[in-house]
Amino acid sequence: MSAGYRPRYHVSVPFGWANDPNGTIYYNGKAHLFYQNYPHKPEWGPMHWGHVVTEDFVHWEQRPTALYPDQPYELVCGCCSGSAVEKDGQLYLMYTAAQPMMQRQCLAVSDDGDHFRKDPGNPILTAEMLSAEIYEEDFRDPRIFKQGDTYYMIAGIRYLEDGIRIEPAPTDQREKTNPLQPSPEHKKEGWGNLGLLKSDDLYNWSYVGHLLYTQPELNQDFYRLDGVYECPDYFVADSGEEVLLTSPQNLPSSGSLYQNIHSVLYMTGHLDFETGRFSVDHVGEVDSGFDFYAAQTLRMPDGRVIMIAWKEMWDRSFPSREEEWAGTYTLPRELTVEDGQLIQKPVREICACRANPVQKPEVTVDDDEISIPGIEGNVIELKFTLRPGNARRAGVKLFCSEDQETLLYYDRQEGMIVFDRRRSGVPITGREEDVDRRVCEIGVRESIDFDLFLDVSSLEAFIDGGRHTMTGNVYPDPLRAKEIRFFAEGGSASFDSPEKYDII
Ligand code: FRU
Repeated sequence: MSAGYRPRYHVSVPFGWANDPNGTIYYNGKAHLFYQNYPHKPEWGPMHWGHVVTEDFVHWEQRPTALYPDQPYELVCGCCSGSAVEKDGQLYLMYTAAQPMMQRQCLAVSDDGDHFRKDPGNPILTAEMLSAEIYEEDFRDPRIFKQGDTYYMIAGIRYLEDGIRIEPAPTDQREKTNPLQPSPEHKKEGWGNLGLLKSDDLYNWSYVGHLLYTQPELNQDFYRLDGVYECPDYFVADSGEEVLLTSPQNLPSSGSLYQNIHSVLYMTGHLDFETGRFSVDHVGEVDSGFDFYAAQTLRMPDGRVIMIAWKEMWDRSFPSREEEWAGTYTLPRELTVEDGQLIQKPVREICACRANPVQKPEVTVDDDEISIPGIEGNVIELKFTLRPGNARRAGVKLFCSEDQETLLYYDRQEGMIVFDRRRSGVPITGREEDVDRRVCEIGVRESIDFDLFLDVSSLEAFIDGGRHTMTGNVYPDPLRAKEIRFFAEGGSASFDSPEKYDII
């Protein structure tokens, strides 16, 4: 029997539902990935923390559920997103006990990285303990890190400019797929922002200030966010550059950017630990595809910063639900910063899973589409350099069968890479006008490097050495849609050194 849409080398939930990665950390010789999980049905429900560990970022071992919603303060939404930190050899998880009208922070601790005790003082942190600036309905997703002797937390907040609170709308208006996703009917006071908090002991916290303030690099859309900057993350890259990652809900699109309803941004700049202000040098979208959210990082002992994101998107249909599961994660990606730009590379350990290599010389395609013997499959890595020549469009058709194809191509006139899943397979629905086409602007180019990862029901494209990525799920026939075609339209293009590896 076919394993259906389940990916082979990407993490996916075994049964039921999964969303955000949580608590990513290297602890006791293993990389840990916790994740938002409802283990009973393939839909969002009161949140548990699922848990997997790995030694090589490719083979993951399922561990027992780390957190269950079993406390009165976790009623309704359960144990929502958060992060992990090691203190005195123990592993601490900080998570949000979310209720539709109140979000509070809680701690759980473990001696072995597997079994967690919730703190008897939970919830240890509420908005009203901190500042009138923070709205208690939206205060979530604490990201903890240590700097010197001090613990810092960055959390998503709704910021009240003049400290005015309004009566929350009744709960039933907001009970949709995930009550934390904004409901169009309910207009809340204040605007999305991020808050910086500090503590000496992880238990007693004080508010430092909010991160985002008016500055030339960010336009008004960023300050008047009708949502929350969810799932923040912060790290210092090898180059010394500071990077803030966050997932704003409802960020309006701007040209070819932020085409999904909810986006993931990176900002390089400087965090002032005295005031909380983050001065932004550059803001960019982390991934230009369809399915990428709530990215979180961990630092490895060798210094690498590795990012994992939810490889799905809110407000969409989830075709894998028919197989009783929904929720996948991106490949772990190594992050660096070059000239202010975030560079993402597939985790290097994936190379050890390459098998059955097929390497071919350059092929030229003139207003045609061809297949190259041996270059096929739907659990593969595919690499090539495209020289678009004088073709109007040139690229690849992936996951092809007689009536299915997923397109990734360069459009020369537009100077864009296009990811088109209109004819991919089972249709995907969503709230946005177009859920089937995403673009990534790269300008006029003579050659473009592609490193593509196909895994049954998803494509992760690393373009130009990781300067751009496009990630998206597709639901073609898992048994038949394995052909790959190279095409050029309106002229001739060449594909230099096409290489395919099975990933096993
Ligand atoms: C983001 C999010 C978080 C929240 C979690 C609940 O995807 O809405 O803000 O903590 O999901 O599952």
